[in-house]
Amino acid sequence: LGNGLALTPPMGWNDWNSFGCNVSESLVEQTADLIVSSGMKDAGYQYVNIDDCWMSSNRDAGGNLVPDPAKFPDGISGTAAYVHSKGLKLGIYESAGTATCAGYPGSLNHEQADANSFASWGVDYLKYDNCNNQGIPAQTRYTAMRDALAKTGRPIVYSLCNWGQESVWTWGAGVGNLWRTTGDISANFGSMLSNFHNTVGLASSAGPGGWNDPDMLEVGNGMSFTEDRAEMSLWAEMAAPLISGTDLRKATTATLSLYTNKDVIAVDQDSLGKAGREIASSGGADVLAKPLANGDVAVALFNENSSAQTISTSASAIGIGSASSYKLNNLWSHVLTSTSGSISASVPGHGVVLYRVSAGSGSSVGSAHRFLGASSGR
Ligand code: GLA
Repeated sequence: LGNGLALTPPMGWNDWNSFGCNVSESLVEQTADLIVSSGMKDAGYQYVNIDDCWMSSNRDAGGNLVPDPAKFPDGISGTAAYVHSKGLKLGIYESAGTATCAGYPGSLNHEQADANSFASWGVDYLKYDNCNNQGIPAQTRYTAMRDALAKTGRPIVYSLCNWGQESVWTWGAGVGNLWRTTGDISANFGSMLSNFHNTVGLASSAGPGGWNDPDMLEVGNGMSFTEDRAEMSLWAEMAAPLISGTDLRKATTATLSLYTNKDVIAVDQDSLGKAGREIASSGGADVLAKPLANGDVAVALFNENSSAQTISTSASAIGIGSASSYKLNNLWSHVLTSTSGSISASVPGHGVVLYRVSAGSGSSVGSAHRFLGASSGR
C-alpha cells in the first residue's frame, strides 16, 4: 500500500498465540519493557500489537468502540502513551465483519468511526480480521477500512488478516501493507511447514510497502530449537513480517538469541525488498535464494525431513554474478568459508542453514567474523 509505511517487513510482537483472549494493559506494558530490555528493540522490533478481546461487548451510545475497562484501565490511549514512551509503536485488532472472531463488535459499516477512534488513541498498526463477514467480498470490506484509515491522516500500518482467501496476494498490495497468506499458525513443525509451503511461491507479490504474511513467529512456543531457528530463517528469507507470538516474560536466552540475530534480521529487512524464491525442491530438500541490495544473495538450505542430509546448490544457481570465489557467511554459526562455486551443508532434520553469499573478496562480510578457509560447514 502506498501509504509510505512498511517499506521493509513489519517487526514486533502480538499477544494472540500465547495469551488468546487474556490480553491486558499490564501485559502489553510489561512486554514493551521486555522488548527494550531484551535487546529486541535494538534489533528492530517496533510494534507491540494487541489482538482480539481488548474491547467491551457493546459500543457506546455514540456508536464508538469501548476498551474493556477491566483489561485496559487507562484505555488504549493510555496504553499507547506508555508504549510510545518506550520508543515503540502500538498495534490493535479489529474484524472486517459484524463481530470479531471472539465475538466482540466488528467494524463492518463502522469503518470511519472505528478508524477515527484508533487514530485518536494513538494506534500505529491495525490487524484487520475476516470473521463474520456476511459474505461480502474481502476486497470491498478491506478497501473500506483502507480509505477510512487514510482519512484519519495518521500513519497506520494496515495488516489484512483474511487468511489467504480470495487470492489476497493478487490485490493486497493496493489495499494493505501485509496480508495473511494462510490460516492460523500453531507451534508445531507441520503447521510452520504448511504456512511456508503456502507462501514461498508468492514471492513476486511482495515488495516495499506490501508483504506476504505467513503468520506469527512461534519461536519459543514449543518447537525444538532447530525448528525455531528454521522458522526465523525461512521467514527472513521470504521477507515475511517478524511478529513474535511468544511470552517474553518466559523467553529463554536461547529463544532471544534467535529473535535478535542481526544478520538474519538484515536478510528480512534488506532494502531491496525482494522475497526469496525456491530455486530447487526435491526429496524434502529445499533451496531458497533472496537477492540483497548490495549484490549478495541470502541462501537457505532447508531440510524438511527429520534426519540430517546434505543440501547443495551453486553460485550460478542462486543468480549471483560470476566470480572466481565466493564467501559464505553462515548467519547462525558466524563461521565464514570460501568456495569457488559449490554451496553445500549438512543440514539437521527440520533445520535450515542460512548463508549470506558474497562474490569475490566479500568486503561486505563483517570483519568480526572468523575466516576459516575453503570448505563448507554449518
Ligand atoms: C483469527 C486470526 C488470528 C487471531 C484470532 C483472534 O483466527 O487469524 O490471528 O487474530 O482470529 O480471534
